[in-house]
Amino acid sequence: MVLDKEMIAEIKNSVNIVEVIGEAVSLSKAGRNYLGLCPFHKEKTPSFNVIEDRQFFHCFGCGKSGDVFKFIEEYRQVSFLESVKIIAERSGITLQLETPSLKTKQVHPHQNLFDIHQDAAKFYHAVLMTTRIGQSARDYLYQRGLTDDMITYFNIGLAPDESDYLYQSLKANYPEETIADSGLFNIAEQTGTVYDAFRNRIMFPLTDDQGRTVAFSGRIWTEQADSDRQEAKYKNSRSTLIFNKSYELYHLDKAKAVISKQHEVYVMEGFMDVIAAYRAGTANAVASMGTALTAEHISHLKKFTKKVILTYDGDRAGQNAIAKALELLKDLSVEIVRIPNQMDPDEFSQQNSPEELQNLLVNSRISSAEFLIQHLKPENTDNLQSEIAYVEQIAKIIAQTPSITAQNTYINIVADLLPDFDYLQIEQAVNSERLAERSQLRQNQTSQTPVQTVNLPLSKRLTALVKTESQLLHRLLHHDYLLSEYRNKEEFSFETEELEALYQIVKKQGEITDLDLAQMTDHLRQVYYQMLEENLPDDIAPGEIADLENKRARLLKEQELQRQSKRIRESSNHGDVDDALKALENLIAQKRQME
Ligand code: CTP
Ligand code: MN
Repeated sequence: MVLDKEMIAEIKNSVNIVEVIGEAVSLSKAGRNYLGLCPFHKEKTPSFNVIEDRQFFHCFGCGKSGDVFKFIEEYRQVSFLESVKIIAERSGITLQLETPSLKTKQVHPHQNLFDIHQDAAKFYHAVLMTTRIGQSARDYLYQRGLTDDMITYFNIGLAPDESDYLYQSLKANYPEETIADSGLFNIAEQTGTVYDAFRNRIMFPLTDDQGRTVAFSGRIWTEQADSDRQEAKYKNSRSTLIFNKSYELYHLDKAKAVISKQHEVYVMEGFMDVIAAYRAGTANAVASMGTALTAEHISHLKKFTKKVILTYDGDRAGQNAIAKALELLKDLSVEIVRIPNQMDPDEFSQQNSPEELQNLLVNSRISSAEFLIQHLKPENTDNLQSEIAYVEQIAKIIAQTPSITAQNTYINIVADLLPDFDYLQIEQAVNSERLAERSQLRQNQTSQTPVQTVNLPLSKRLTALVKTESQLLHRLLHHDYLLSEYRNKEEFSFETEELEALYQIVKKQGEITDLDLAQMTDHLRQVYYQMLEENLPDDIAPGEIADLENKRARLLKEQELQRQSKRIRESSNHGDVDDALKALENLIAQKRQME
């Protein structure tokens, strides 16, 4: 049986998406759809919809949507092909995957490079596990707290102390080009002699998120090597066609399933930190391999989660790196674990215990504002000038904190830190920051530039829609009679996801409490505060609500037309009928949501 488009469609039609998802998510019927708690992000109120007659799902909380294959891909963290197989198996459809269509399937252009890395990893691992010198290297690892199981799990190896042992054992199997491009060897310019790039080092294979070994990092482990020459403690493969150090994160391949399940990832500096965390029971840690967390790393992580727990070393370099990373992580939710006494997570675990490391990772997280309060604190609090500079800096950060309760706590902390300032003075600084921001916001709005403080997808038309809906929600929140009126409009919902989420809370309890705020994502909270900042007179003007409704209807229509023509344009450009159909499906469903 050939796995072609028809076959895929047949497999898809052989199941009902409601049943498939129903096995993983508890769903209840809500109107024409099914509703449940989204498995892809943390939520307390269900916003995960399964639309039976269109056979797709959509989450209003995190925005994930797709068909049954997409669900399996995301939920089980497998490829598209894998998801088709899973559904086929469920329906008892047998797929012979060794069909001509798959045999002629394109091989990855860099398959040789992946293969040679896999062979090298096997080779290094065997040297570690079976040789006499490997025994001493293992003793070193045991003494650092590893077990054989952990050595196997992380696939750790040993590069022998020879100049070309790896080369000799692999050269027959690979073309020269692969040898040269792999980064595993150095070739002498004059003589063309090939040397192993790694010699007498403990080898950590670095994998891509699919689990393919793409590079290595080797650590010095013998005293002799240490004193011989001043060599770097860790030495990495150079960049190659398959290895970009700014994108790959150590252990992401194995951690990703746990990351998706727990909706968060710990980012650490080093291999041994990730290993220590794993030993302590935290399997969702990755390493940026040094302190430089790049924008590429972050976009890589975003494929798997929206929440990052920065767990860099407790020394100055690590703490500075956290402050730097916070700037790059602005649109993710972030917490920080500070490791005491300048230690790294591995050292902390050694000095205390894995249990205490686990406890630290889980129970001593702080917000980025709390971190910055400590981090930016002037060393010398006798100096009034530096105190003032600090207060100005920190007031900005506190003003951006959405929760008022948290703001009060932070103001108290800062007041306690500074001998020359009391609570009221710092509160004043925070308030004036807030005012400054607000007038900035208003200026932006009147000059019609898209507001950048909230990262909604902003086209001008959409901005107008968000603004109109914000105003409407503002009115609903502050005028009970209007809210009762809308509660009766069962079909009514906000087009803007975030505002709809807020509306659901308001509809249910008539207000948004601090507890609600504490449980929201940073992003949703931002939207809430921006909505509150709508500069409206207390009383509703005659006809105001009808005007808002009309404006909203018009904008929705415009937006819909725009989207439709865009999708059709794109699909016809690509000649992709499937995509066009899918776009149409989405559109119909969205229309239904609006009705
Ligand atoms: N690193 C690297 N290249 C280097 C030095 C460091 O890639 N030349 C990366 C490694 O991933 C290393 C991490 O940066 O694990 C942190 O480096 P460092 O703090 O110096 O080492 P530790 O992790 O403490 O290593 P160990 O515990 O083995 O001493
Ligand atoms: Mn260390």
